[in-house]
Parts: sequence; structure tokens; C-alpha cells
Amino acid sequence: MNILILGSGGREHALSWKIKQSPLCNELFIAPGNAGTGMVGTNIAISATDFNAVKSTVLERKIEMVIVGPEAPLVEGIYDFFQGDEDLKNVMIIGPSQAGATLEGSKAFAKEFMMEFDIPTAAYKEFSAETLQEGLAYIDANEGPYVLKADGLAAGKGVLILDDASEAKQELAAMLGGKFGEASAKVVIEQFLSGLEFSVFALTNGKDYKLLPVAKDYKRIGEGDTGLNTGGMGAVSHPPFVDAEMMAKVEERIVKPTIKGLGERGLEYIGFVFFGLIEVNGDPYVIEYNCRMGDPETEVVMPRIKSDLVPLLEAAWKGNLGEQEVEIEERSAVTVFMVSGGYPEKYEKGKEITGLENVTDSIVFHAGTKEQNGKVLSNGGRVLAVTSYGSDFKEALATSYESIKHISFEKHNFRTDIGFDLK
Ligand code: AMP
Ligand code: GLY
Repeated sequence: MNILILGSGGREHALSWKIKQSPLCNELFIAPGNAGTGMVGTNIAISATDFNAVKSTVLERKIEMVIVGPEAPLVEGIYDFFQGDEDLKNVMIIGPSQAGATLEGSKAFAKEFMMEFDIPTAAYKEFSAETLQEGLAYIDANEGPYVLKADGLAAGKGVLILDDASEAKQELAAMLGGKFGEASAKVVIEQFLSGLEFSVFALTNGKDYKLLPVAKDYKRIGEGDTGLNTGGMGAVSHPPFVDAEMMAKVEERIVKPTIKGLGERGLEYIGFVFFGLIEVNGDPYVIEYNCRMGDPETEVVMPRIKSDLVPLLEAAWKGNLGEQEVEIEERSAVTVFMVSGGYPEKYEKGKEITGLENVTDSIVFHAGTKEQNGKVLSNGGRVLAVTSYGSDFKEALATSYESIKHISFEKHNFRTDIGFDLK
């Protein structure tokens, strides 16, 4: 069958890489894609949120399956758009309905959902402009650190963690005053949790689910998890601290009640659920839900799925996911991101990337790259994800760091300590 992947990052290159290995995949298209996806399939220069352009592509290219990479088209209702269109409603689209995507699109909705289904998460209160005074009083009455979350999507910048009460009060007022526009019309203030974070992924049809490999990502720009947040500087799968006992708790206390909740609430959901979790004193808590795969986690999760992904996605669509098996690679996989100098603040694009052809022991997934006159140029902050396998994550990391030595572009940067907090 012909398959279309929507998105343009490292996640989408990793998905393309995996999907292209399937004997069931005939032609593969990526919209809009990057230089890496252009080497695996055909890039189509349209935006993933331009639903009419997506429709034209699907019809012209005889696409039978669409895999939605990023959250924006899902939160904007691409699944519902397909379902409501006579020409598209039989096209398999992997990604939840707009209602299902609210688990990511609204923090207040997600918190309320977790409360209803008894899913462990930080205690919280929700405030709006009308209840600002109560919010200020709530901060005064509680000890920091204060975790302030804009309700809606705020390009990954909507969570503030503040030690100081007066700063927290100022920020609460600014957020409710429109700091993130409509996204911060509501703000969730929640209890600060301290522990190691990890990412669990499930493929579901809203009834059955299959767990995919677990990963841990490294979000901060600086060594030792310091400095500004980024889109992700690296990832490790499997993070050793997430043992079988922890996974049993995750499945019983978090995954099963979440899938049950989707069903009970009638939230149509055929796609990936990303559980952003934290371990506190041996127990897992949900930090956030996402309605898609993670980035950079996908760059280590896909390489660890041995089964063909296409029949699994098809089964999710057709309702027989429960009969499927997912075979997982025993080896570890890690990825280290090469980013543009200055990122996540100001940085330059358009730098020529050299040496890619000399990498033999790693898989290089492209994120912010573009092809121009046969050259690969940097085209974003996060540029390349260098993924490797190893008998353990340390061995895999050594391979990625060795491969990085072959690759160069002006002013590039990467973290040399991915996995620093793991044993
Ligand atoms: P979120 O967008 O909800 O994932 O939040 C972004 C980041 O903020 C998370 O990955 C955590 O590192 C941190 N964070 C969010 N909520 C909490 C919390 N309740 N306690 C501590 N850290 C948090
Ligand atoms: N790695 C975190 C995310 O994809 O949101």
C-alpha cells in the first residue's frame, strides 16, 4: 500500500525508516519531510496542518494509510476531517480524534481525566482570569517549587517551574493575562514532583493496546541537565531503572485505566499514546500525556521494534490489535542530537553538513535538514539524531559519539553526557 507520513522532524525520519522496511509498504510519502526522509521516500512540500492539501495528496497518490507525526494536525482535528469526508473516510489514519487529542491539547482536561480514572499524577488546582485572586492565595498557602502549566499548546514553553512565591504569583498573573494567548486562559498549578522521568508508549485502538519500547529523553541544553529546555538532546532505550516491577505498576495503574477511560468517555483513539512519567519513591506518576510519539524518543523506539509496524497499525485501524504480538529488540538503542550552535536561543541555518557518508556504525536520522543542489544543509535548531545499538546503553553511546566525530557542520553542538544519570 502507499503510505503518507505527516511531519518533518527526526521522529518522522525514524518512522519513515521503519515503515519503509515493511514488505507491505509500496510507495512512501512524507509531508513536508526533510533531507533524510527524502532519501527514504518522496517528500511532498505541503504543511501537515493544511488539510485540503493533505486530501489532494492522499487522492492523487492513492494513499491508503496516513501516519500523523506531530500533535498540531491532531489537535486541529485531522482525524475528524478524514472521517467526515466521503473520499477519505476509508483511508486508515493513525492518530486520535480531536476529542482524544485533548489529552495533550488541554492540561486541565488531562488532569480531570486522571482524577476520574484514579490515575496517579501530581495534585493540582486549575485557575482562570476570574479566579486569579484564589490562585495567588493558593501560591501563598503552599510551598514551592511551584509548577505552572498553561492549559493549551504553547510550543513546549507553557510549563514554568519557580522556587519563589512572588515570582510564581507574577507569572500566574502574566499567564492568565494572555502571556501564551488563548493557551494560558486557564492555568494548572500542580505539586512539584522530584524523580527520574521516562516515556512509555502504547499503540491503541481505544480498546486494546500494545506497549512499545520505553525510553528516557534529555531535554536540557546543558551537561548534567542544566540550562534551557530544548526539543530533546538525546534519548536512551531501555532506561535500566525502569525495571519489570515498575513496568507492572505503570501498566496496571496508568496504561490500563487510561485506555479504559478513553472507552468510557467515548474518545475515539486509533494511534499512539505517550505517557510522560516520573518515578517518585518507587511509584510512577503521570507528568503529561501526548497524543503522538515522542521526539527524540522515536529515534530509539523504532530501532527497537523488531516486528513489522505496518500490520500493527493496520490492526489498530481494523480493531484486531489484541491479536497482534510486538517483538522487541533486546539490544539497547541511544540517540545523541547534533544541534545548531546557539540553539535553543538564536542560531544560524543553512550550514553544509559533511561526512554523513562516513558513518557506518550508526543510523543518522535527520531533523532540521534540507537538501539543496545535492548538498545537505542545516535547517533548524535540532539537526541530526545519531542513533546506535549496543549490548547496553553505554556501549551504544560510545558508538554514537564515535560516529559524531565523522559528521561536521559549522558551530554544531551536542551533549557529551547523555545517560549521565543512569547506571
Ligand atoms: P510537561 O509539558 O507537562 O511535560 O512539562 C514539561 C517538563 O516540566 C516536564 O518534562 C518535567 O520535567 C517538568 N514538570 C512538569 N510537571 C512537573 C511536576 N509536577 N513536577 C516536577 N516537574 C514537572
Ligand atoms: N520528548 C518529549 C516530547 O516529544 O514531547
